[in-house]
Amino acid sequence: MSKISRIKGFFDLFPPESTAYVFMEETARDIFSRYGYQEVRIPVVEQTELFARSIGQETDVVQKEMYTFPDRKGRSITLRPEATAGVVRAYTDSPLAGTGNVSRLFTFGPMFRYERPQKGRTRQFHQINVEVLGEDSPWSDAEVIIMLWTYLRALGLSKLDIELNSLGCSQCRPAFHQALKQYLQGVDHDGLCSDCQRRMSTNPLRVLDCKVPGCRDLVMDSPRINQNLCENCEIHFERVVSMLDKAGLNYHLNPNLVRGLDYYQRTTFEVVSHDIGAQSSVAGGGRYDGLVRALGGPDVPGIGFACGMERLAMLLGQVNQKPQDFYLAVLHEQAMDKALLLAQRLREKGFSGEMGFQVKSVKAQLRQANKLGVKTCLLLGIDELNKGEIQVKDMATGVQRGVSQDDVEQALGLNIKAKNNNYLRNG
Ligand code: HAM
Repeated sequence: MSKISRIKGFFDLFPPESTAYVFMEETARDIFSRYGYQEVRIPVVEQTELFARSIGQETDVVQKEMYTFPDRKGRSITLRPEATAGVVRAYTDSPLAGTGNVSRLFTFGPMFRYERPQKGRTRQFHQINVEVLGEDSPWSDAEVIIMLWTYLRALGLSKLDIELNSLGCSQCRPAFHQALKQYLQGVDHDGLCSDCQRRMSTNPLRVLDCKVPGCRDLVMDSPRINQNLCENCEIHFERVVSMLDKAGLNYHLNPNLVRGLDYYQRTTFEVVSHDIGAQSSVAGGGRYDGLVRALGGPDVPGIGFACGMERLAMLLGQVNQKPQDFYLAVLHEQAMDKALLLAQRLREKGFSGEMGFQVKSVKAQLRQANKLGVKTCLLLGIDELNKGEIQVKDMATGVQRGVSQDDVEQALGLNIKAKNNNYLRNG
């Protein structure tokens, strides 16, 4: 039978690559929870209209990159190309939207974009996604950016640049669109790609985000949004920038940073790396104050970001799991039951380890313990079974001694607190 191959642009993840993903997720849980964020889980498929309305009809994502198909009843559904629209939809559907409180939410998961696969660009990719709903303070923008930076530092990444811009709001954007349209009418239209020739009148801001070199050249001298902000947007941005200065963050103001999604207003930012090739953006985000209302929810402001996990993984290199505490080697089949119960007791006490289910020589068992990198190898043969003992071998020093089976925990020498003690359970 012929083998069935995986789909182009989609990947399987095994250790050690998958370990890097677990590390990124666990570090995110740790750091984000210090700022009061909570994890949400949302569907990977939504009605197509959700993305068309939020991300914008004129964006590359909606025009060319969505996995859209009819379900069995002919309704158009789409694999999520990003998480913000889904989080906002879920928030609007939930009791959170009516509370008037600030909601700080994060989620992880796969996203899907039908792009040309290349280094750092896949068709299924994974994001760590953060959203704050219900807060419009510029200090909140600064805190979100500082938290992103703190997270990246906690991963051990520091050779990264932050780019920052403000895209204005519904007050100042129309005048800027007008100025941009006027400018674009004055350039050689034939030099613009066919998409941009259309976008010129439908959504001129998108022309600034076009990746086609000819279009990029033609907008080099275009009006800049940061020179056309209304007073409120200017004050808001000044406060964000001043706070980032006080927090000692290095950033670079980039007036061309318009982002590839239409819902942004005011503060936008990206984190870029110069070590991973052309697809250099490892995280991106910004404020989206009109989005919740545009999707039928209350008039609630929002800001957030997403990190691309594939790109972060390229920077992290190999991440290894911590070795287990023990390997339990069985030297006689009659010792198998006792060994399994002992191993179970140790795990319930918080130790981690595995046991071998094949009876092998001591030499072969120690080789296995070495391969696993454990600190301690426990050996259980017929003699130990009869005496109620177990051999404990320190793999680093080679010292081996027999101890009572009642004292294995002590012999492992670790004082491990029971896991899960960060949670309060009722019932
Ligand atoms: P985005 O800039 O489209 O923003 O994506 C965020 C990150 O996802 C990018 O910086 C990149 O690292 C990664 N990424 C995007 N496309 C691909 C791909 N094809 N292959 C690999 N990685 C990719 C958003 O998605 C917004 N929803 C972020 C946001 C949250 N804004 C506010 N809240």
